Amino acid sequence: MATNLRKYIVGLDASVPVRGGMRPYINLDNAASTPPFRSVLEAVDHFSPWYSSVHRGNGLKSRLSTEAYEEARQIVAAFVSANSDERVVIFGKNTTEAINKLSYRLPLKKTDIVLISHLEHHSNDLPWRARATVKRIGLTPEGGIDRADFVALLDKYGGRIKLVAISGASNVTGHIPDIHWFARKAHEAGAQILVDCAQLAAHRPIRIGSLEDPEHLDYIAISGHKMYAPFGTGALIGRRDTFMRSEPEYRGGGTVNLVTPTIVDWAASPDIDEAGSPNVIGAVALARAIKTLEQIGLNTIAEHEAALTRYALTKLKEVPNVTVYGEIEPSYATGRSGVIPFTVGNVPPHLVAAILGFEWGIGVRSGCFCAQPYVMSLLGIDRQTQYRIRYNLLHRRRDLMPGMVRISFGLYNTREEINVLIKALAAISEGKYGGYAVDRANGSYTPIDDTEDLSAYFKI
Ligand SMILES: Cc1ncc(COP(=O)(O)O)c(C=O)c1O
Repeated sequence: MATNLRKYIVGLDASVPVRGGMRPYINLDNAASTPPFRSVLEAVDHFSPWYSSVHRGNGLKSRLSTEAYEEARQIVAAFVSANSDERVVIFGKNTTEAINKLSYRLPLKKTDIVLISHLEHHSNDLPWRARATVKRIGLTPEGGIDRADFVALLDKYGGRIKLVAISGASNVTGHIPDIHWFARKAHEAGAQILVDCAQLAAHRPIRIGSLEDPEHLDYIAISGHKMYAPFGTGALIGRRDTFMRSEPEYRGGGTVNLVTPTIVDWAASPDIDEAGSPNVIGAVALARAIKTLEQIGLNTIAEHEAALTRYALTKLKEVPNVTVYGEIEPSYATGRSGVIPFTVGNVPPHLVAAILGFEWGIGVRSGCFCAQPYVMSLLGIDRQTQYRIRYNLLHRRRDLMPGMVRISFGLYNTREEINVLIKALAAISEGKYGGYAVDRANGSYTPIDDTEDLSAYFKI
């Protein structure tokens, strides 16, 4: 099946130089960004000659571009089964921007509580700290969101909780909470719910639900670059009524009906929420990616990625000194996503990632994946050690920062690629790798004999 799915993606035939020769490039870093769909590049190519300003131009190209932009909005809405009477799709750069926007558009006071989980990406944590009081739902021993703690927090803080903001899938362990169960509980307590779907949208079907359904989601945030459409567009999909009140956080062109020296009459959302000229090509790219995901079928993708995850978890267990974090049971692969964090003995995670990249042609990520509280908990790092880490960072010793290595699957990855990874990790575990120099200030490792010239591959 994977061979079949590989045809949807560009760049999979790239060979890259590694120590001692060339190797096919293996991308196991899809949780950060996915490569583009072929269909997305074609859509951008076909659309570009017709591209022009949207909304305010009368020329054919402007009319066509406006239509394409608004069609993209409808495609995003349909992707999550959103009814446009109740819901609005607001385009923006990415999930981070979407969550920040929501944090401004919700009528929050500093004394209001936003309940987040302890596994959130910083993008679903820091915006709430700035606008409200954040309380954190604890973790289960496997690193999932602890439902009992959630219920206890709902009981404890009751009506003060205005929003529950959780991930649809963790970017660290691939944990997938039952978001509709959380939604029901949040609504029963009188709160709304945001689900950060950055790690879910390309891997599972999403249903936002009608507002009458007690399990509906109030808001969803997605990023195109994690959905095979790396053209700078993401979206916030949410309750229209929220965006009908108050004023936007960004003001300017496109957001108003009438402006006089003394009057500002705001336009309705989404216009009020998309100040300035939008990224039309990015919206077209995102919508085309959605159509391709639907064409392949999100259930097919989920099944394929679960099979890879099951295989990888089984194989990782066999590598000496490798510790996997989170829900490590291969039999649980269908209940989680294909994001797997691990460490290899005492080898620093950034060094493991460098060896995989420079010697095996494998792209992974290392560090704390913008989820430092979560990674530190999984690693069992106590508060005292956190102060020590802070001290180290102040003294420009990022190399001493703890972390993990993360692999994350896309729909095109294969078992053969996992086999190469396992071989590489076995070699690293046995200490079989070249010499590396560490840059203490930024924590990165490069081969001591490095002569890489990236401009040989691409130059603007
Ligand atoms: C769970 C989660 N939320 C939010 C984000 C932020 O997404 P973006 O960088 O596209 O804004 C990421 C990115 O890795 C993520 O994994």
